[in-house]
Amino acid sequence: MTPFGPIQRDPEGRLRHFLSIEGLDRALLTRILDLAEGFAGVGERLIKKVPLCRGHTVANLFFETSTRTRTTFELAAKRLSADVLNLNIGASATAKGETLLDTLRNLEAMQCDLFVVRHQASGTAHFLAQHSAPGVRIVNAGDGRHAHPTQAMLDMFTIRRHRGGFADLRVAIVGDILHSRVARSQIHALNVLGAREVRVVGPRTLIPTEAAAALGVRVFHDLAAGLDGVDVVIMLRLQRERMAGALLPSEREYYQRWGLTPERLAAVGEGALVMHPGPINRGVEMASEVADGPQSVILEQVRLGIAVRMAVIALLLGYDEAGP
Ligand code: CP
Repeated sequence: MTPFGPIQRDPEGRLRHFLSIEGLDRALLTRILDLAEGFAGVGERLIKKVPLCRGHTVANLFFETSTRTRTTFELAAKRLSADVLNLNIGASATAKGETLLDTLRNLEAMQCDLFVVRHQASGTAHFLAQHSAPGVRIVNAGDGRHAHPTQAMLDMFTIRRHRGGFADLRVAIVGDILHSRVARSQIHALNVLGAREVRVVGPRTLIPTEAAAALGVRVFHDLAAGLDGVDVVIMLRLQRERMAGALLPSEREYYQRWGLTPERLAAVGEGALVMHPGPINRGVEMASEVADGPQSVILEQVRLGIAVRMAVIALLLGYDEAGP
């Protein structure tokens, strides 16, 4: 059991915080995916709303930039009929030196029930969960290089919808594994859900080999070999903002060696899914023809992220049995 296991559950074993896939079991991940399946239908209705979380308040605390995660959490909470508070960090008292804990305490005093937290420092959501008031829930929306568990769950949901399950799946995660919280969470989720094979593919400078081995994934430093025979290709963004030194020659050379081009995808096969958590660097990790092509499910990932985040919010606020 990792340090994240115990704090994520209450004494009765129910999910209290959602901080990391580590420490969670297959039954719980499957429960989230099943709940998301029910919530996906809400988005197809004329009135995209259910009353499950009426009277609850969800606060979005994004200390780092976001397009997809922040807005889909907001939509998810609104579709559950919760009230939503989007704290503008740049215009908040954080700019005057208020500590993270004081910000949490003040928003708790306003009776917020659930906090969605993104922060550049690994461990921030865990820290807030340790210091949150009883009854308050914390969701990690991405912390440094550590974890992005709802992104991994929406990726699993997308895969399950297309492939039905995980047992026969070979999945390649390609690119900047070293700086990627998404890759870490995806690997844990794929392992817990029983994927047949998980590969990480990329330059030696961007793959932490020992950590990858500890997670039970196969490491490839050749793109064609890494993609051979896979069912799902997950491309990752080069995380330039997290690179301390010169780990790569240039983006042009990176694309030449590691970019997913139509020709390279054709060699993988027509049946392979192409995924990317976003934001995409077109012409760096993948060609536009691939990103916008028939095998790409990138925008579907974004749409399904609303249902997955509805599932996580509903589960944390105690609406597991009610369903959508
Ligand atoms: N995938 C993802 O986390 O995107 P954002 O940074 O836009 O939220």
